[in-house]
Amino acid sequence: MAHYQPQDKYFKRAREQGLPSRAAFKLSELLQRYRLLRPRMRVLDLGCAPGGFLAVLARMAGSEATIVGIDLVACPLAPSKTAVVIGDVADPAVRHAALDLLGGRADLIISDMAPKLSGIRARDEARCEELLALALQTAAEILKPGGAMIAKAFMSGDFARTLAAFRARFGSVDIVRTAATRPGSRELYLVARQFHPAVAQCDN
Ligand SMILES: C[S@@+](CC[C@H](N)C(=O)[O-])C[C@H]1O[C@@H](n2cnc3c(N)ncnc32)[C@H](O)[C@@H]1O
Repeated sequence: MAHYQPQDKYFKRAREQGLPSRAAFKLSELLQRYRLLRPRMRVLDLGCAPGGFLAVLARMAGSEATIVGIDLVACPLAPSKTAVVIGDVADPAVRHAALDLLGGRADLIISDMAPKLSGIRARDEARCEELLALALQTAAEILKPGGAMIAKAFMSGDFARTLAAFRARFGSVDIVRTAATRPGSRELYLVARQFHPAVAQCDN
């Protein structure tokens, strides 16, 4: 059986490298494995606090990248070359503010959004699925055609439906468990590439 080790090697490495959390290693692994970084890219980080992913992006995406995060709470550890909008991704005004700061549609959207856990499994799983749907809706508004998305997900009852929704909007979707994910965790990431805008419906 897996044991929870609050101070495992990723926790210690994060402290040594001045990163806010172990989550940083999950993102750097995915960015490298899927070669998702491009010069002068625009990146949107949904659920960015306390700032681990922003720190990785600021280090890896190059000095000309535009990096914007959104979170319900302030993100005091955000690197100076990033911008953060404080608010709910579900609020259209918040999404518009992020799009303005990006200066155009994003090449890459990352969603690490997670709800405050209630301890009631069915409720928590439903909220996680809602956040994934919200991330996909945000992509429809803000992601460039051909762009990519990394989204945190959990293996749960509705996972198949979420996966189908992503597969309907992206040319390829991989389900990935990162090396830095805690043993025993049901957390995984969807790495979705080749975003395509919705095909218009025809009545005839
Ligand atoms: C696991 S933490 C993200 C950690 C972050 N990726 C990092 O590397 O530091 C999840 C975050 O999602 C945020 N969140 C949850 N629902 C949200 C929503 N509707 N809009 C904006 N942020 C949200 C929470 O406030 C929380 O800070």
